[in-house]
This record gives sequence, C-alpha cells and structure tokens, in this order.
Amino acid sequence: MAGLKVAVIGAGSISEMHLTSYQNHPEAELVAVCDLVEERARQAADKFGAKKVYTDYRELLADPEVEAVSICTWNNSHGEISIAALEAGKHVLCEKPLCTTVDKALEVEAAVRRSGKLLQVGFVRRYGTNTTVLKKFIDAGELGEIYYAKASYLRRLGNPGGWFSDTERSGGGPLLDIGVHVIDLCWYLMGRPKVKSVTGNTYKKLGNRSNVQHLSYYQAADFDASKNTVEDMANALIRFENGASLMVDVSFTLHAKSNEVAVKIFGERGGAEVEPDFTIVTEKHDTILNVTPQIDNSSFDFMAGFQNEINTFVDCCLGRAELISPVEDGVELTKIISGIYESSEKGIEIQF
Ligand SMILES: NC(=O)c1ccc[n+]([C@@H]2O[C@H](COP(=O)([O-])OP(=O)(O)OC[C@H]3O[C@@H](n4cnc5c(N)ncnc54)[C@H](O)[C@@H]3O)[C@@H](O)[C@H]2O)c1
Repeated sequence: MAGLKVAVIGAGSISEMHLTSYQNHPEAELVAVCDLVEERARQAADKFGAKKVYTDYRELLADPEVEAVSICTWNNSHGEISIAALEAGKHVLCEKPLCTTVDKALEVEAAVRRSGKLLQVGFVRRYGTNTTVLKKFIDAGELGEIYYAKASYLRRLGNPGGWFSDTERSGGGPLLDIGVHVIDLCWYLMGRPKVKSVTGNTYKKLGNRSNVQHLSYYQAADFDASKNTVEDMANALIRFENGASLMVDVSFTLHAKSNEVAVKIFGERGGAEVEPDFTIVTEKHDTILNVTPQIDNSSFDFMAGFQNEINTFVDCCLGRAELISPVEDGVELTKIISGIYESSEKGIEIQF
C-alpha cells in the first residue's frame, strides 16, 4: 500500500486528536513522536503504535522514513519547525496559529514555495460538518454576497495558564488562541476578502482570576497562578476591501454571565449562525425562514472536525486533493491578528 508515513511533533493535549485521526486513517502510518519531554513522547508513541521517539525535532526531521509531520508545539515554535520540516522535504500540518509574527509567517510562505512541499494550517473549524455543509450553500449563492459577520468567543473564567499565558511562548492571549479560530471561520465563509484595515482593543483588567473557587476550567499541565502576561479580552472591527466587515470579541476571562461562542454571517439573500446552533436564515414568499439543517451535530463536532482535517491533509499529500487551509491563509490571519494588537497598542486604526 502506498500510504503516508507521518510523525507528530509536540505530544501535549491537542496531539491526541492528530494521533487518533492518523490512527483511524487506513493510509496513514504513524512512525515517530517527538516532545521536549521524553516520557510524554514515549507514552504517545506506545499508545498509538509509533516505533520511534525523539526529543529534538531536528533529529526527527533528519529521519528519511518520515514523509509528513503534524506540528503541535507552543505557538512560538510553529514558524521555525515548519521551515525546518519543509526544508527537510516533509509535508507539514501546522497547528493554529501559523506564526506569532507576520515576518515569520512570510518566511514560512517562502519556504513552502522553495520546497515545493505542502503546508496545511490547522484551522480545524473549516473542517467541521456545520462549516462544510454551510460552504455548499454559500458557494451555490444561496446567501448572496456576505457583507457582515460577527463572532464572539467569550470565556468568563478560562485562562489555561502555563505556556498559554506566557506571551514569550504563546505570542498572545485569547485573541491569538481562540480568536484566530472564529476570525478565520468568518473570513473563510465570507470568501476570504482582502483585509483593508483593523481597529482593536485589548484589555488586561482581571488577570487570570485564579482566586475564583467552585468553578472548574481547563488548566495547562504547568499552570502557575502567579504567572500571566497575556490580555484578558480583546475586541476588533475588521474592514475588507470589498466593503464587508467583521466584528469580534474574545476573552479568557470577563465578568460575563456565562461562556459564549457565537459565529454569525449575514448576506444579501440570507444569513447563517454557525455556532452555537447551525441555522440558515432566509426569506421566501415574503416570509422569513429559520432553517435547521438536519445533521448529527448542530455545533462544531470536535472529533469529526479533526478527522476531516487529517483526511484532507493525507489526501493532499497523496496528490488527490487541493488544500482547504493553505499557508497564504495563515499569513493573512497573522496579519489580521498582529494588526489588532498593533491597533490596540497605538490606539489607532491600522491600514494595510
Ligand atoms: N486546533 C485546535 O482546536 C487547538 C486546540 C488546542 C491547542 N491547539 C494548538 O496546538 C498547539 C499545542 O497546544 P496544546 O494544547 O497541545 O499544548 P500542550 O502544552 O498540551 O502541548 C504542547 C507540547 O509541545 C511540546 N513542545 C513545545 N515545544 C517543543 C519543541 N520545540 N519540540 C518538541 N516538543 C515541544 C511541549 O513539551 C508540550 O508537550 C498550540 O499551538 C495550540 O494553539 C489547537
């Protein structure tokens, strides 16, 4: 069988989704796992049947058996490892965000061109069933031109701590961690219009609120209540050259009554709510219709989304499909996110 030999770099929380999805794929063979923490890499390798374990990604990349890698490390290393992997002749699936700076993202894009290898950005929400169904409606023109979108990803208490709250390793807080998902999802569904300007605000008002009791939330393995250098919340207005606009707000913590994930797009002929409950809104015979697509999961289906992302990556590596989330889109998102941070810092709108 001419399959694909893959390795996973970074064996923390999200690697489980990559490893499981590769294991489920009949044509993917998992050959190696790498993590700075050897024990973590070994446990993952044992669980998922990989023969080799590395602690230095450069050694893994020198292994001729490896044809493609998933990069599941801290954000600050995505660019460096992607470039090294491409130069070593490997296809790359890089977790979001592609990079923490625009300069690095452009270097990755240049490395993709130079190497002739593929790079898929892990914008997993593009691969959710709700998104793939909605995309068909949009592509068929059923929503008309989309001119406005609105996304919220608000956690009232959910700063994961560890590397997530260390700007050195994460590159930013909720804007970069969870904002990138919903901004990308809206932008993708809007037809990826060229960004014209961004204006944004970030706030560091509440800290990580590690004092709060009786409410549980995800904490990274190396959570340390005394360390937090990222913003609590961010908001932004993004303008596109075609006149469309996108409003977004995100938080790790906020005095909100409850958590909220909402992704909505509005077009000339119809609209849609992708999250929290997939609904298509339209008008027929002078009547407004809220249409509920009958699919197994009306919200983002995590397992299916990752499986679809990995299936697409394998198909692309084997030359059977076109990338859905190519490097250029990772560069554009890095531009948008960096622009929002810059706008907030300088107190002005950033024009592109
Ligand atoms: N697509 C999604 O929905 C989603 C969800 C969570 C996280 N992520 C992304 O996945 C990445 C990892 O997040 P996580 O939650 O798994 O974090 P994690 O802390 O659980 O795991 C990260 C792992 O990477 C290892 N690592 C860091 N630098 C390394 C290097 N240079 N070489 C080898 N190993 C290295 C760490 O030791 C750790 O085990 C992040 O970029 C994050 O943004 C994506």
